[in-house]
Amino acid sequence: MTVMHNQESQLAEGAVFFIFGATGDLARRKLFPAIYSLYHEGKLGERFAVIGLARRGRTNDEFRHDVRASIEEFCRYPIPNDEDWSRFAKHFEYKPLDINNVDGFKELRVQTEHIEREFNIPGNRLFYLALAPELFGSVSMNLRDGGMLDSEGWHRLVIEKPFGYDLPSAQKLNEELSHVFKEEEIYRIDHYLGKEMVQNIEVIRFANAFFEPLWNNKHIANIQITLAETVGVEERGGYYDHAGALRDMAQNHMLQMLTMIAMEAPSRLHPEDIRDEKVKVLRSLRQFENADEVKRNVVRGQYAAGALNGKPLPAYREEEKVNPASVTETYFAARLYVDNFRWAGVPFYIRTGKRLPVKTTEVVVEFKNMPTNVYLSQKHKLEPNLLVIRVNPMEGIYVKINGKKPGADASVQPLAMDFCQSCMVGINTPEAYERLIFDAARGDSTYFTRWDEVASAWSFVDKIAGAWKASSEDLHLYPAGSWGPEQADKLLAEDGFQWWPVNGQEESQVVWNK
Ligand code: BG6
Repeated sequence: MTVMHNQESQLAEGAVFFIFGATGDLARRKLFPAIYSLYHEGKLGERFAVIGLARRGRTNDEFRHDVRASIEEFCRYPIPNDEDWSRFAKHFEYKPLDINNVDGFKELRVQTEHIEREFNIPGNRLFYLALAPELFGSVSMNLRDGGMLDSEGWHRLVIEKPFGYDLPSAQKLNEELSHVFKEEEIYRIDHYLGKEMVQNIEVIRFANAFFEPLWNNKHIANIQITLAETVGVEERGGYYDHAGALRDMAQNHMLQMLTMIAMEAPSRLHPEDIRDEKVKVLRSLRQFENADEVKRNVVRGQYAAGALNGKPLPAYREEEKVNPASVTETYFAARLYVDNFRWAGVPFYIRTGKRLPVKTTEVVVEFKNMPTNVYLSQKHKLEPNLLVIRVNPMEGIYVKINGKKPGADASVQPLAMDFCQSCMVGINTPEAYERLIFDAARGDSTYFTRWDEVASAWSFVDKIAGAWKASSEDLHLYPAGSWGPEQADKLLAEDGFQWWPVNGQEESQVVWNK
């Protein structure tokens, strides 16, 4: 079943959610709180159940206790009282499971049929694999061989990134899954697509006469996408040292954001039509053909020791589980081109890094300067118009324009018209995972990545990774707490541009209208 995109409703027909990796971090921080928020808002109704699965032994009561603790710590809604809690908690069960042993899956089938009868659920089953990708293949096979896919109703598989390490490994993984699940049953999560303001890009672009007519190479000078983080690798050094910023952030989140900015308007608001347009952008990305092109257009860096807000920070190579001689990049910036009629000649600058000075995700669309006119003189320095989409942590948009400075001398000053969404919605902005779990449960795959998108993104990224393998001489160290290697500034300066300040750290002369 497919649904039209954006159809808000309740999960009327009911489903069982199977959380594989139920004792892990993702389940605790994101999945249980998201399920509770959906329940609290009435979106799940009462015809649902959650079965937590992991190797560890746990009773149902112990599991429910853990779920409650995770909601109390991470959910945007408090649990009002014990009575409400009991009503919610009775939908949760736990089963210890060895995912390599099909007998456990057969037992799971019996347990599932029992809980489906209890909550009047017609065999709809959503399998959420919060697991390492190496395990996806055997879980899928055992789901099938254990009879978990024999129920009437739908079966869907929700999986987390990383989807492979490069194109060949992603293909292998995809093939394993495709023995059991059809493409339309596989929901590949990119949690950036669940973010409110990333979804809002479509609406801002396609529902405004202000923007769509200007959204092309005639009027746009360049586009900048920044995903900056203040954190280092935390306790994920083992994974990260193998992945790096290119695979961890660029292959998925950054390229997905770029597709949302650059895609053509879909003919219908149907998931496949939207994803068709997105994959065309990925296919139009100009590929880097050799190491020289990569060097000219890509900057990689790694954080050295530094400080943030007066607090000293260790170098990446000193982090736990990181090779002390590692050449893994913690910073990535690139100049990309989307070679189609709309975008020919417009550079897209993207950058991401760990241990940068602020946590922010922002898109800046810089418009071309006005042609020479009476206002362009020594006296009136005209700034370019900017449209800034703030994704995180602040959500909103602002437009920077030029206006007259009040007073007799008629000089021009930059003004910012600012819409702060997070100021209005406050802490109650839905978490990306709420939206994504709900979408998967009602069969809306719009904000999940389709296999051809994943494959195109890998083939683009593999060229960069391939060029980097030969030598690491272009890996620049940058102090933790700084904006990364200065080579990333040069990338824009070569084209006569600059990175615009992020997160409201605007130039002091801009007049803000909030
Ligand atoms: C994850 C990456 O996908 O996204 C992390 O693996 C990164 O390294 C995280 O920290 C950032 O997500 P957000 O939502 O905090 O911007």
